[in-house]
Amino acid sequence: VSEGPTSGPAIPDAFRARGQGQVFRFFDELPPAEQAALVAQAQGIDLDLLKRLSAQASGGDSALPTLAPFTPITRDSPELDTAVATGRDLLDEGKVGFFTVAGGQGTRLGYDGPKGCYPLPVPSRMPLFAWFAECVRAASRRHRTKLPWVIMVSAANEEVTLDHFCAHDWFGLEGSVRFVRQRMLPAVDDDGRILLASRSSIALSPNGHGGSIDALADGGALQWFEECGVEVVSYFQVDNPLLNPADPAFLGFHRLGGWEMGAKVVLKSHPLERAGVVALADGKPAIVEYTELPEDLARATDAGGRLLYGLGNIAAHTLSMSFLRRMAGAGLPYHVARKKIPTLDASGEPLTVMGRKFETFIFDAIPAAEGFFAFLTERSEEFAPLKNAKGDDSPETVARALENRTREWFRRAGKPLDPGRAVPEITPFVAYDFDTFLLALPGLTASGGI
Ligand code: UD1
Repeated sequence: VSEGPTSGPAIPDAFRARGQGQVFRFFDELPPAEQAALVAQAQGIDLDLLKRLSAQASGGDSALPTLAPFTPITRDSPELDTAVATGRDLLDEGKVGFFTVAGGQGTRLGYDGPKGCYPLPVPSRMPLFAWFAECVRAASRRHRTKLPWVIMVSAANEEVTLDHFCAHDWFGLEGSVRFVRQRMLPAVDDDGRILLASRSSIALSPNGHGGSIDALADGGALQWFEECGVEVVSYFQVDNPLLNPADPAFLGFHRLGGWEMGAKVVLKSHPLERAGVVALADGKPAIVEYTELPEDLARATDAGGRLLYGLGNIAAHTLSMSFLRRMAGAGLPYHVARKKIPTLDASGEPLTVMGRKFETFIFDAIPAAEGFFAFLTERSEEFAPLKNAKGDDSPETVARALENRTREWFRRAGKPLDPGRAVPEITPFVAYDFDTFLLALPGLTASGGI
């Protein structure tokens, strides 16, 4: 559940002694099984860590580092062809492992289930997990190898996610897909008191995707990747169906540069887009989260009118295995989020309070990497995340982005689609980038209708 368990025979007493007695407020009236469950939950909580985090949260905002712009590698690089060849070698040699983080709760999307099970706004209504499973299968087929895939879940969605995979026969990937579980942390009120979710359970939430490095190590997946011969891990979020996780250029630049970590970026669509930005922070490469970037800096431009901090993080990273090994257990800094948290009042009635959740972010590993690069890609090719039920980054915008990309692929291939006709659905097993699209095109046109 957290960094280190609180030990001792009398957990309720230990909590009372630390000013957290409210966790056991309803204890005496609970049936024995629920008492045991609550004690088991409490046992996993590191009260020292929580105290430190609450003190950090009350200490006000920490000083912002001095920022400077960062220069990315682009697809115009003279080394592009070498990078693509290098990346293809890595894939052909089976030295790439995929890693999807899918432990979050997807609250903003208003979907009552793991985001990965959300049906995409495409004619087949294919869920995100199935979509990425097709990517993994298609990349494995293309590179004539079995590329391993690890998915991070959390206690909040593990069961439903595993049931989903089981019900779909592991999307044809049995034996080459594994799950790891991230840790959970309690939510607290503004005074640092742990909140209850019910009379017999604590309000726990996933510890952020920074927890993914420890989850890989704890769950044995790091070792599994090693046994599979993985050299570079291609990390991505479950919410961006346009992403190509098997991009030879991105993987190739990683190997060519001898870097330990990379980030794919797109130019921000507007200064206040909700995307972290790659920058130099106190002289070191970093990603500054959008919630932590002051508005004047978010809007600052150079003489040509370009945003100084315009390299938007699309949360797709390359990570060397040796770096993951070194970072396992190293700990990343915690960020505090103020959120509405459903809980109970002293008499057990439900209410919602503003409280605090603590999360670590994977990109906080960047400053520790010996070598980091950012790779600029096209938004229209690779970024349309599913975050909200309506408006920006919603099913509607994702559907449009997928259609536009397909239309563009046909145009680039010299077979433009008639503007009036419906755009055919191209799922990743057919094509997951323009190269694979070109390979698939003869079959697509031969099957008629196009
Ligand atoms: C995230 C990035 C932001 C980036 C944007 C691009 C963070 C903190 N910020 O923002 O810099 O520009 O995506 O789309 O991530 N997840 C877990 N476990 C957790 C928390 C999250 O697995 O404990 C997973 C989620 O399932 C999801 C992903 O991480 O796949 C992103 O989480 P989300 O909260 O949606 O991040 P954003 O605020 O959208």
